[in-house]
Amino acid sequence: MNSGNTDVAELLRAMRSFLHENDMMAYLAMMAVRLLELHRVLKPTGSLYLHCDPTASHYLKILLDGVFQPQNFRNEIIWKRSSAHSDAKQGAKHYGRLTDTIFFYSKGEDVTWNQTYRPYDETYTERDYRRVDTDGRRYRLDNIQGPGGAEKGNPYYEVMGVSRYWRYSREKMQQLIRQGRIIQTRPGAVPQYKRYLDEMPGVSVQNLWDDIPVINNRSKELLGYPTQKPLALLERIITVSSNEGDLVLDPFCGCGTAVHAAEKLGRSWIGIDITHLAISLIEKRLTDAFPGIKYEVHGTPKDIEGARDLAARDKYQFQWWAVSLVNAVPFGGKKKGADTGIDGVIYFKDFKKKGEALVGSTTEKIIVSVKGGESVGVSMIRDLAHVIEREGAKMGLFITLAEPTDPMRKEALKEGYFESPGLKGKYLKLQIATIEELLAGKKPELPPLVSSFAQAPEEAPEQGALKI
Ligand SMILES: C[S@@+](CC[C@H](N)C(=O)[O-])C[C@H]1O[C@@H](n2cnc3c(N)ncnc32)[C@H](O)[C@@H]1O
Repeated sequence: MNSGNTDVAELLRAMRSFLHENDMMAYLAMMAVRLLELHRVLKPTGSLYLHCDPTASHYLKILLDGVFQPQNFRNEIIWKRSSAHSDAKQGAKHYGRLTDTIFFYSKGEDVTWNQTYRPYDETYTERDYRRVDTDGRRYRLDNIQGPGGAEKGNPYYEVMGVSRYWRYSREKMQQLIRQGRIIQTRPGAVPQYKRYLDEMPGVSVQNLWDDIPVINNRSKELLGYPTQKPLALLERIITVSSNEGDLVLDPFCGCGTAVHAAEKLGRSWIGIDITHLAISLIEKRLTDAFPGIKYEVHGTPKDIEGARDLAARDKYQFQWWAVSLVNAVPFGGKKKGADTGIDGVIYFKDFKKKGEALVGSTTEKIIVSVKGGESVGVSMIRDLAHVIEREGAKMGLFITLAEPTDPMRKEALKEGYFESPGLKGKYLKLQIATIEELLAGKKPELPPLVSSFAQAPEEAPEQGALKI
């Protein structure tokens, strides 16, 4: 253990004596080991951004000071993630909670930094850039007198009949006059410099970020992952704190916003997430946004042994992974006692026909039931048949790790077929797929599916890296 680790261990002990053993303490202990590792693998010029909410931010900052050292704290960024809402009407006795905190630490003094700007706000440009040139360019007049006069070494000479200490040499002043940049508003007035708005970079980004709206139900970006962050937020962070070709790591990558932004900006990336739902969603997101993209996935079962191992370790993760193999939306989650017999749902469109013409459609469901146990039996097929009926679904899919028995297959066949005039062909109403078959690429025969998650818009290749 090096001294940094020892400090952090002491810090955790102190926090524990205050917080005792509760969820917050468990979270901080989980974060502490990860932050130590992230600090260890970070390049000397690298940065860490930690996004959190106000319930944990004060504890996390202490932890970060312990891991990164207080002198490497650079900013507490406040991201305004939503607009005013009406908690008050529901009786809330606190101010509206609109912001999240993003801590920004560097590994050391020499940190990668690409200054970034945002456009000036209109009140400023209208107040300070009031003047408009004949060609429509907005400008302002700036003082060109040398501050500090002779003492600061400013030259004294005459310009347009006015003698002063100036901030430019005679030669430079002549050049600016020839370029039409030095203006005298009336005879005898002190000449000034004509500064065009379109030559200014904008206002440098401060630590209050109120220009990046949160993802809402109408956002094109919306994928359906509960904690999805806006791409612009991650693009800003990655643009400022890394260069093209650098490596970005998001150890809690969710639906992969950081991974998407890194790919778009020409950075290499690694994303880590504990849920298979996140991994399958990112895979879809990446292929939608960057057709032909190449990447590797580590840690999802690739063969039957891997699948068995996952099923034995975590029933819910196994279910999420299994439903992702057939592009189903996971259902029910980890809610105890909420065993509805549904582990996932697949949606498809059934078309109504009048003669040969299509006259509308309905979205229909296929219920997915996953079994990761060592043995399966015919009662499970009957259960699924009941759920299909109860839910008014058109079909059911039984996914099993264990080999199904002959009576199970016979029971499934008893359910007959689903057919519709709007769809070509007919489909077995209750199908059985084994994990082994799915891993071998043998997919169940289902009607054409409606995508379970929203599609990420394709990124235009020429967009490349954001220009700073
Ligand atoms: C707040 S979300 C990240 C959201 C992400 N920025 C996005 O835009 O989707 C946190 C993620 O951390 C994952 N997670 C939680 N505990 C984890 C752990 N111990 N290791 C890896 N990932 C974990 C969760 O599954 C969740 O997807």
